[in-house]
Amino acid sequence: MKILGIETSCDDTGIALYDSDKGLLINKIYNQKKLHNIYGGIVPELASREHMKAIISLLKQTFRKKNMIEDINLIAYAAGPGLVGSLLVGATFACSLGLSLNIPVLPVNHMEAHLLSPMLEFKSIKFPFIALLVSGKHTQIIAAYELGKYEILGNCLDDAAGEAFDKTANLLGLSYPGGVQLSKLASQGIKDYFYFPRPMINHPGLNFSFSGLKTFTAQIINKCGQSIQEKANIARAFEDAVIDILLIKTKKALKEKKWKRLIIAGGVSANYLLRKKSEQMMEKYFNGKVFYSSVKFCTDNGAMIAYLGFLRYLEARDSQLEILVKPKWSISDL
Ligand code: KG4
Ligand code: ZN
Repeated sequence: MKILGIETSCDDTGIALYDSDKGLLINKIYNQKKLHNIYGGIVPELASREHMKAIISLLKQTFRKKNMIEDINLIAYAAGPGLVGSLLVGATFACSLGLSLNIPVLPVNHMEAHLLSPMLEFKSIKFPFIALLVSGKHTQIIAAYELGKYEILGNCLDDAAGEAFDKTANLLGLSYPGGVQLSKLASQGIKDYFYFPRPMINHPGLNFSFSGLKTFTAQIINKCGQSIQEKANIARAFEDAVIDILLIKTKKALKEKKWKRLIIAGGVSANYLLRKKSEQMMEKYFNGKVFYSSVKFCTDNGAMIAYLGFLRYLEARDSQLEILVKPKWSISDL
């Protein structure tokens, strides 16, 4: 079975083709970062227009030979959460293509796609597991019991981890989205030169708050973030604090559930230090294992959408040609 995956929930246009026997065949991404960089963040109206321009050309690149497109058996698209205009481009495109090819079309949840994306490369991952879902808009700890059955154990009360990375990167003069660059800068910073607060780590429960840390960082940048080395030291202290906070809460969740499997997913799971420290934590405290994707599957992509479409279709054999978008769509409401 061949599944076409379409991702347009934010500022990346992604199209991928997944084969249930051979695995991922094609994964095309068009990245709009340059367009939004000058505004220091995503401009929703520009994002949806850019998806419109990119999507046909990506489809053409995916199917160089015309008859190849007739081999698709299912189309899956990200129906939410995300920016409504951007989602509508993907949804309309998917439904029109499905109608013209007379094949089933399946709306899927973008966050569930992130959550299960490591399964694209690690087929051995089994439920149940704890997931740390960290993206530009989400910071969640999730108990994943089975496909489609998720409990949110912890959530962010203000800025998401990725958002905190991006805003801090901006204050350090790095371009949008700054997560990767902040992390590169941090690798040149002196460890423990600064110690930044870890909000909420002693609160009961598993929720997060990053806005206080962001404000604290802004004050330090104003006071002493002049030279490259000073900026690198600040970036290092910030990154260490965010990762500590994420892992302290994740550890609590794993202990509560007494589970030994952890998945980290979403854009921030591309972070090298987060990967390394979560590996150390799983070995040291749980004799367990952490799974995360190759960097290209951590940020938004069509492959995770195609793969989730495949899993969901196997379960329900559902199809929906009515255009569906849900800008707010919690993974616990599936
Ligand atoms: O999952 P994603 O592509 O988009 C959303 O669904 O939000 O995540 C994007 C986020 C951005 O905030 C970006 O700065 C962050 O992931 N990110 C990183 C790294 N790579 C991407 N943050 C920290 N370290 C990284 N290496
Ligand atoms: Zn995403």
